[in-house]
Amino acid sequence: MRIFEKIADLQGWLAQRREAGYSIGFAPTMGALHEGHLSLVRMAEAAGDVPVVSIFVNPTQFNDPEDLRRYPRMPEHDIALLQTAGCQALFMPDVEEVYPPGQDLTVRLDFGRLTEVMEGQFRPGHFQGMATVVKRLLDIVEPQRLYMGQKDFQQLTIVREMLRRLALPIELVMCPTVREPDGLAMSSRNLRLTPEMRAAAPALFRTLMAAGKAFLAGTSTADIQQAALQTLHSAGLRPEYFEIVDGYTLLPVAHPEASPFVVACVAAWAGDVRLIDNLVLKEERQQQ
Ligand code: PAJ
Repeated sequence: MRIFEKIADLQGWLAQRREAGYSIGFAPTMGALHEGHLSLVRMAEAAGDVPVVSIFVNPTQFNDPEDLRRYPRMPEHDIALLQTAGCQALFMPDVEEVYPPGQDLTVRLDFGRLTEVMEGQFRPGHFQGMATVVKRLLDIVEPQRLYMGQKDFQQLTIVREMLRRLALPIELVMCPTVREPDGLAMSSRNLRLTPEMRAAAPALFRTLMAAGKAFLAGTSTADIQQAALQTLHSAGLRPEYFEIVDGYTLLPVAHPEASPFVVACVAAWAGDVRLIDNLVLKEERQQQ
């Protein structure tokens, strides 16, 4: 695996790969890697792409400076994992390389409700910072395919909208959420859970599964939501939201029959760690 810190060096290598006829599959990350991140690399490889990963803890998407400071950084561990997963190039720039002083690279697209609902309510400015860094990294790497996790469903939806609005010729691949054996979605934040909260955290996934069952049985979305919030409280978690939304607009779904793509999304505090998860309740493939 090649490791690059400078844009020019990475781009030189990418140009050679392209000339040799390879397509590039890109997975941006913030490091502290786990099997969820590695699954993106494996999916890129399985699709025949040259897997390229970036590790960059993006300051502009943290609304809480303390969260940025505490974000785990473990480059040696990450490099070793990426090597085993078949990553071919790792881009690890510093902040000045990504955001050269004096240049304003902010993405100012108005995503409307997409950035206002759910996570947007609790993390002001987060999605604009995320969109800015993803656009910047896409401009640098110019991949054919972009691999992102379903785990961060709202993020993925906003990136899909950004690709569409900017007419970027990049295919977005949604990669399934990788979970611990007890159902907890893998996340670098899980490392910060106390033993007690680690034991309580799988309630997120259990709640989503119960919601899935109730949804299939025809229970109203309002009743499902109420039961889910109750279950999360009883498990010792502090839910911020449990929403059943349209998978494209992210607006609450009251009449599921009218929506071809329905997703349950949840965020809850486990002690001082904020966890998110989601489950697709319904996805009707559009006929081509
Ligand atoms: P990060 O949290 O490091 O996640 C990087 C990618 O890994 C995202 O696409 C995320 O959805 C995916 N991922 C994380 N946990 C996963 C899991 N359990 N299963 C499957 N995929 C998982 O998301 C970010 O970084 C940043 O916002 C970023 C897009 C890199 C922009 O800074």
